[in-house]
This record gives sequence, structure tokens and C-alpha cells, in this order.
Amino acid sequence: MVLFTVAKKETAPIDGQKPGTSGLRKKVTVFQQPNYLHNFVQATFNALSPSNVRGATIVVSGDGRYFSEEAIQIIAKMAAANGVRRVWVGQNGLLSTPAVSCVIRERVGADGSKASGGFILTASHNPGGPHEDFGIKYNMENGGPAPEGITDKIYANTTTIKEYFIAEDLPDVDISTVGVTSFEGPDGPFDVDIFDSTDDYVKLMKTIFDFESIQKLLASPKFTFCYDALHGVAGIYAKRIFVEELGANESSLLNCTPKEDFGGGHPDPNLTYAKELVARMGLGKTALEGEPPEFGAAADGDADRNMILGKRFFVTPSDSVAIIAANAVQSIPYFSSGLKGVARSMPTSAALDVVAKNLNLKFFEVPTGWKFFGNLMDAGVCSICGEESFGTGSDHIREKDGIWAVLAWLSILAFRNRDNLNGGKLVTVEDIVKEHWATYGRHYYTRYDYENVDAGAAKELMAYLVKLQSSLPDVNKIIKEIRSDVSDVVEADEFEYKDPVDGSISKHQGIRYLFGDGSRLVFRLSGTGSVGATIRLYIEQYEKDSSKTGRDSQEALAPLVDAALKLSKMQEFTGRSAPTVIT
Ligand code: G6P
Ligand code: ZN
Repeated sequence: MVLFTVAKKETAPIDGQKPGTSGLRKKVTVFQQPNYLHNFVQATFNALSPSNVRGATIVVSGDGRYFSEEAIQIIAKMAAANGVRRVWVGQNGLLSTPAVSCVIRERVGADGSKASGGFILTASHNPGGPHEDFGIKYNMENGGPAPEGITDKIYANTTTIKEYFIAEDLPDVDISTVGVTSFEGPDGPFDVDIFDSTDDYVKLMKTIFDFESIQKLLASPKFTFCYDALHGVAGIYAKRIFVEELGANESSLLNCTPKEDFGGGHPDPNLTYAKELVARMGLGKTALEGEPPEFGAAADGDADRNMILGKRFFVTPSDSVAIIAANAVQSIPYFSSGLKGVARSMPTSAALDVVAKNLNLKFFEVPTGWKFFGNLMDAGVCSICGEESFGTGSDHIREKDGIWAVLAWLSILAFRNRDNLNGGKLVTVEDIVKEHWATYGRHYYTRYDYENVDAGAAKELMAYLVKLQSSLPDVNKIIKEIRSDVSDVVEADEFEYKDPVDGSISKHQGIRYLFGDGSRLVFRLSGTGSVGATIRLYIEQYEKDSSKTGRDSQEALAPLVDAALKLSKMQEFTGRSAPTVIT
């Protein structure tokens, strides 16, 4: 048995350690400053209830980005010194964000131990490498991100910290080999348990989906498949689930070996950054020649986001969650007894609302951020939820889940094609989406991002829009002068949310203009930008007439875009004649 001692080290507060809802995200060089990580980890231990630290089991892992291994060794030594009984580390330090949530909720150690929480080491979809981003966040016993009460405490602790505890003589642990290493400290034993990163997650997925039916779909020569992990941690789950469990061809996987710098790319699954997949699916200017696969999907660095594509066809995240909700009960065993309710973030299109109404489901519109869904799920009123920002998930865990979303789509395709695989025409992704539009109507949708705008100017624009809202007749007069072909604004407000579970109120969550025909304009300041301010303008046009749901999206939205830009005086306030990104 290796013995270790506990050292108390003097330290001093370091500025700027306020975690957002997705934890503390900074450049690697910031994390490499002396005591930077140590201070944050000690501040976290001090913010948790002592019983969740002393004698407890804590998960430590992440998406494998640069600086992860160093961070794991430091956290293990600090955990030992703070009286933690054992840390659980995914092999090679890898666990996707949804897998951490799953491990906290589901994994039981050989001696019956359960985790009380975990550190997730990731900066999500931000690039990685020595000059890029690293991040750390803490998830609680329910598998969800620490609530604001805890993150506020962590931050307060970072501003007063004077000392931290570390077992400096605890040897580094070989995180590449599965197995338990035991140590003995002044307060008793301490274990580091390196375990398979995929086992618990795969086990959970098998309780949710009918793997056999997906296997049949993937085995059919009619169905072709492609998955791009963008060199993030999703790759290890993709290999295990899609190839080993479901029999997909290894050549269906793109960029599925995790790299600490994501191969120099930007691991964000959208039409701009998932270039290789987009080309393979026959989309965009660089579309490959030849027949694209029937189904394509991608994930971000920590595998909680997803993008779903059909052959030469993009499924908007807002449509994706609505379609999953509409088909879940028939196609996914986990939901066979019905949905408890569904939820979307405010800027996400109202496609889900229409499904909820038609199927008579409880429905919630929450502010942007996954934590709001977590509360609804803990209260047992929400089964499926999603966001326009490429996040989709369910109450099987308390994070969004990129691989889950792909399995949900494969389940729908498998169900719809259950009688077609040996004869008959394949029902494609595009068919499913178009049928959905024919039944529920289509929400044309686009998002304009104005990145790195002067923060003062952004605030002024928002204040101007709020002020305009005091008189709807004036708003309508202005809009009619711009475009006579858009419907009337019938309601305008600044979105405010009262959490039905804990009663907390979130104000200033974005500005909404709701039109008589179900269209919407939403203006919102990003909560995740790092330089200046980012204004997001979400534009949505509802079309019920099934003969008009097949138009080009940018063309269908042109009148509303025109109205939005002129109404908000976008160019006047920001000096920008065009957005930085259109999605
Ligand atoms: C993170 C959160 C998501 C949220 C997104 C919004 O990815 O995990 O829940 O939708 O940020 O980002 P924004 O930049 O629009 O505030
Ligand atoms: Zn992510």
C-alpha cells in the first residue's frame, strides 16, 4: 500500500474565476498559471456539503482536450487530501458530458459505492490545444450541472481563498489502464478507479432503445450512415455503439479518434464547422460527387450537442426535437408508456409547441440553458426537450445528449422502415421531416449572429426594442411601412420565466415579437460569447398550408428578416450591414 501525506498550501485569490452555467472556461495558458486550477478545485470542495466530499466518490473526466491529464492528476491529489474516499476516472480521462451524467446517476462500484458528483473537464464546442480553451465544471448528485446557488458559492470562495490541500506525494496514476489503485492517507484509504469510459453509457442506451431494430436498419444495403465526432470524445462512443453494437461499417465513422486539439478544428456540429460531413452528405459548396449517405450526424467536443442530416438535407435542431417528440412513443421503448411533457428554450422554434398541442402534452418554454430542463425533469414533468443551439435530450440523464439524439433518429427511421427493408422504398430523413411539416405545418427558421459587437451598443439596441414594445400600434405602423406582407404583431414582451419547480424568477431572457400568424422575432444577447457582446436574432415564420412548406428557407423568411433589421435599427446601432454568421 502506497502511503501519502496531506500538505496545506498557502494561496491567494485569482481574479476572474466566476463559473458560468457551463463552468469555468478559459485559455489553457490561464489554467496553467500557478494555483489557478488548485484554487478553483478547493473552492468547489469548500462549496459542497462536507458529506459530498469527505468519504465520498467523485467522478473526474472529460473530452480529452489539451491539459486534461495534468488536471486529472492535480484533482486526484487534491481529492485525496480533502478526504474524498475514491475518484472514478474514465479510461484515458475520457467521458463525454452525457456519460458523466450517466455515471453519476447509474454507476455502482464493486463495493456498492455511488458517486456524489463529478468534475467535467471540457470547454464543449470551443477549440482545444495549448493556445485554445480548457474548462472545468461540477455536476451534482442528480447528474446535472451545479445550480447557481453552488456556483455562486464557488465563486465567492475563489475570492477569499487562502489555502488548499494536496497530497503532493501521491504518485501520478496511469489513467490509460483500467483498474483500481489504492493508497493510504492520514484519514484512511483512497482509491483511484480507472474504468471503461463507455460501459455504463452503453448499458443505459440499451435500456432506452431497441438496438435490434436499429441493427436491422443499419444492416440494410438501402440504408447508408455517416457519423462525424469532429475528433471529440463522441468518437469512442460512436465506435462502440454504432460499429461494435449496431454493426455499422467502420468506414461510416469520420474523425472518431479523440484528439487533444480536435485535429486543429472547431468541434461544433453545424453546417459551418462539420465541413467533412456536410460535403459527404451532398450539402454546401464543397459537396462530394456521388451518392451521399441516407443519414449523417455530428457531435461537439464533449458530445452533448448534435446535428442531424439526411441526404442533401439539413434538419434544424428545432424541427429535430419536435419530430423526436412526435414519434417517440411508437419508436422508442423508453417512451412507450407516453411522454410526461416536453420543453424547449424560448428562442427555439415553436414546432414543438404544435406537437405538444396536437398530442395534448404538458409543454414548457424555458430560458436558454439546460439547467431549466433539469428542474422540470427532476419534478417528473418533462420527458423530451431541446434547444435551437443543437442540443437535444431526455430525462434519462441531466445533460443534453448527442449520441442519444442520433439513436432517437435511427429508432424513428427503423420504425418507419420496419416493413420496407426487404422490399419497398426507404422512408428517408427528408420524407419524415416533410411528412411532419404536412401534418403540423412548418416553422421556417433562421438565426443571425452579430458577434463581437460593442457591448454598450448591444445594450442600447436591446433597450430600444424594449421601449418600442410599449405601443403595439406604433410597432405595427413601423413594420407595415417596412413590409406590408408580414402579419401583425399581436404581443411583444421581454421574456421572463418563473420556474414552476423552485419558484425562482429569471428576468431579461430575450425580447419577443409575436405575430398573428404564429411567426416570431426574438432578440437576445448571447450568454457564452467571450469578446464584446453577441446579438442573436432568431427569425421564425409559421406556414400551415402544406402546399407552401417546401420553399427555400432564406427566401421564405426574407420579409421578416427585412422587418427585423429595420425595426431594430441593427445597422444604426451596431455599424454592421451583415451578420457574422447565419445559421
Ligand atoms: C450552452 C448551453 C446551452 C445553450 C447555449 C446558448 O451551449 O449548454 O444550453 O443553449 O450555451 O448559448 P448562447 O451563446 O446563445 O447564450
Ligand atoms: Zn458541448
